[in-house]
Amino acid sequence: MIQYDGETMRFHLQGRGSSYVLQIVNGCLLHLYWGRRLQAARGSSPIVFTPRSFAPYHDPARRGFSLSTLPLEYPVYGNGDFRHPAYQVRLRDGSTITDLQYCSHQIYWGKKKLPGLPATYVQDDQEAETLEITLRDPVSGLAAILSYTVFRDYDAIARSVLFLNESEAPMDLLRALSVCLDFRDDRFDSLTFYGGHTYERNINRRPLAPGKWIVDSVRGASSPQHDPFFALVRPETTEDQGEAYGFSLVYSGNFSAEMEVDSYHTVRASLGINPFDFSWRLDPGESFQTPEAVLVYSGRGLGGMSRTYHDLYRSRLSRGTFRDQIRPILMNSWEAMYFKVDEEKILKLAQEAATLGIELFVLDDGWFGRRDNDRSSLGDWTVDRRKLPHGLAWLSARIHRMGLKFGLWFEPEMVSPDSELYRKHPDWCLHVPGRPRSLSRYQLVLDLSREDVREELVRSVAGVLSGAEIDYVKWDMNRHMTEIGSARLPPERQRETAHRYMLGLYAILEKLTGRFPNILFENCSSGGGRFDPGMLYYMPQTWASDNTDAISRLSIQYGTSLVYPPITTGAHVSSVPNHQVRRVTPLSTRGLVAMSGNFGYELDLGRLSDAEKLEIRRQITFYKEIRPLIQFGAFYRIVNPFEEGDAAWCFVSPDQKQAIGFYFRVMADPSHALRVFRFKGLDPKLFYENIVTGDVFGGDELMSSGLNVPDEKGDFKSYVWRFRKKEG
Ligand code: DGJ
Repeated sequence: MIQYDGETMRFHLQGRGSSYVLQIVNGCLLHLYWGRRLQAARGSSPIVFTPRSFAPYHDPARRGFSLSTLPLEYPVYGNGDFRHPAYQVRLRDGSTITDLQYCSHQIYWGKKKLPGLPATYVQDDQEAETLEITLRDPVSGLAAILSYTVFRDYDAIARSVLFLNESEAPMDLLRALSVCLDFRDDRFDSLTFYGGHTYERNINRRPLAPGKWIVDSVRGASSPQHDPFFALVRPETTEDQGEAYGFSLVYSGNFSAEMEVDSYHTVRASLGINPFDFSWRLDPGESFQTPEAVLVYSGRGLGGMSRTYHDLYRSRLSRGTFRDQIRPILMNSWEAMYFKVDEEKILKLAQEAATLGIELFVLDDGWFGRRDNDRSSLGDWTVDRRKLPHGLAWLSARIHRMGLKFGLWFEPEMVSPDSELYRKHPDWCLHVPGRPRSLSRYQLVLDLSREDVREELVRSVAGVLSGAEIDYVKWDMNRHMTEIGSARLPPERQRETAHRYMLGLYAILEKLTGRFPNILFENCSSGGGRFDPGMLYYMPQTWASDNTDAISRLSIQYGTSLVYPPITTGAHVSSVPNHQVRRVTPLSTRGLVAMSGNFGYELDLGRLSDAEKLEIRRQITFYKEIRPLIQFGAFYRIVNPFEEGDAAWCFVSPDQKQAIGFYFRVMADPSHALRVFRFKGLDPKLFYENIVTGDVFGGDELMSSGLNVPDEKGDFKSYVWRFRKKEG
């Protein structure tokens, strides 16, 4: 998978369908090619060393060798390249110029863990090959090891960088991106996400233009505003055809994604921790590990790129007991009770849930401290006996006796000023001495860079988890960071706080998920506000949005699927009029939208009519039949709600013997065109039988000619087709 030609000093990283080629020239690491798989990389289009005006050089005899024009693999600052660099270091003398030169490399089977950070992994060394290239600055003693892993079964490359201070003096990393590379042309559109609370992961596609295009977060979380992901796609690339280059960062904090088009029509693409307000002191002998970036090339359009991310993230990023286990259908109490938690009502709701076939009851916010609204008690993780007089152990036992599992909500990273914890430890939150502490949702952020804070957090959460029979945790986080500073760090390390917070959070999650391997953790940040690969490493599912309206969810779930597998995407049926947008949609449509992800309910089951209960019972039976297909099947997007209003997609089992297709017809209009649903991903040579009607069609016909979408009047209609291979 990784070849090295010692004569030309060329590396060829070969994936299943892609090749990535680098070359060392004059000690400098140049980027040669990334794209469709090559049988061999012999250098048919070598780099041209053209002398250009204003281009600085070291060697007058080789004026064409200028860092300002070469396609670089991990660009340095200060020696002639005027584009943005991949890293920057401030040395003891105040200078910020270094030059990383090739020293050595090694290629080995397997993939090392990234200390303290989430990352893709292998279960067996034969699953991947890794190239490590060691670079050194001859003057300062700075070294960097660039790491590239190529997977046998997934067409992706994982890149990260380890910085080392091999000098006798401290130095400060001012910038340390995980990936940077130069494309030789700029004929690309960029694809990024934008959004906010209740409208996460909208897709923004636009042509690259000269200059820089940056998408980032300075919020202390990957955020609902943007996502640590971008793709560069050819202007002609569609869902199913053309080239797409994906960049995804396995990180949950401040990030920066930068695309820069220079005057020679090249593109520099990079991704990593946001350098804004970041620095990291490296004392002699210390090292700094960047997060991992996962690069995916697809020659089969955006769909091909997404399916690679889905396969890799589902199988070799997500971990633990639940990775390959069928996920329970849950009932969450939030929209049914909000803060009005009441033992009797919980038992009634749970009984209804059990009768309908739901498998897990989740008690959301409001069960602890004196949490009657969002103004108090975060940090005080003790049960509120006013609301739950018999306590959690009793409640969970009662719920288990109904045949349900029991889950609980926490927001452990936060503290309310009105809490016992804050009164005892006012310096435990992020703050800058002498400055007011900005509130958001009436709460402050605990300083997870501190070990004492982490220890207390683990102690208090673990205490609750071991004090009752708890099968599931919803781990929420509902504000962003302000006054980022730590009472424990010296002045020169204050700018490390946000990243140290993330390392602290990851350490906590590693501890708790390791200690409670049979608890299913669901990630949440006011919905999908921290839906990123970093969190997926610890928690195999994420509540995708606080917007539970089925029509809003079409775009949210469609956008999310660009990178994240549908089974990682929590999706619930809620009541109508919907609590966020007041829209009234049919229960059938709410059901099919939610079934396209990690399925659950979030409504007051006690208020439903018998007819609605019957329909819900049918939905649950149906989802139980299809969920292996939703969890392990390949996902194909068919109709894009951002462009067409309607939405459609399908799931196909890995052996292509089963498929399910969904069509959502959003608005009725009087003179509409008749719609056709065309499957994707079937075997064209097989025959498939409609499970309901018994009709049999070839896979080719279902994909090319398709099926008529029923022509009904009314808004918010939805349709589903299930097919299985016709045997014999
Ligand atoms: C935000 C979450 O996204 C909601 O689902 C709910 O858990 C609330 N927090 C509770 O405060």
